[in-house]
Amino acid sequence: MSHRIAVLISGRGSNLQSIIDAIADHRLDATIAIVVSNRAAAAGLNRAKDAGIEAVHLAPASFADRDAYDAAIVDVLRARQVELVCLAGYMRLVGPALLQAFPDRILNIHPSLLPAFPGLDAQRQAYEHGVKISGATVHLVTGGLDDGPIVLQAAVPVNPDDTVEQLSARILVEEHRIYPEAIARVLAGGWRIDGRRFR
Ligand code: GRF
Repeated sequence: MSHRIAVLISGRGSNLQSIIDAIADHRLDATIAIVVSNRAAAAGLNRAKDAGIEAVHLAPASFADRDAYDAAIVDVLRARQVELVCLAGYMRLVGPALLQAFPDRILNIHPSLLPAFPGLDAQRQAYEHGVKISGATVHLVTGGLDDGPIVLQAAVPVNPDDTVEQLSARILVEEHRIYPEAIARVLAGGWRIDGRRFR
């Protein structure tokens, strides 16, 4: 039976789409059991529905605090026997309730070569810093912001005449390539965490 994964989103959902496509192309042996968005207007919810995937919006404002919200997500994921949680443009910090329910089983994609430029607007941070190379990182999620053992990275050049938008688009191509690959690696097993290293 293929691995059951969840994808958590907040917006556009292009990384969600890359996972949907990788499963359809048999590059990734997994089933998306559920897509959860903290925003009702997330375009990714429609991508999920178009692909016949269950998609739910959970409004943070309906819960007392972050713990209550994360506990509700845990309930939704457990009810669907989810094995791995993939954050894909999910714009909320993951709290202890969710982390403890899925230890070393939450992945995130970030549009920079971590540990450079964590946080919001990473492509612009890299651009304004003047780096000559940037890229994308898939990492396991820990308590820290954009922290945690790195599973896969891909580098792209920053060209002299780039705009932030051009750089972001070049990074996004790599995001869509490495996220499904990283998910496949994690699901395949045979790895361990050695200090900060994913081996
Ligand atoms: C991506 O750049 C991802 O790296 C970052 O948020 C963006 C989400 O884009 N965490 P999308 O919703 O997957 O299109």
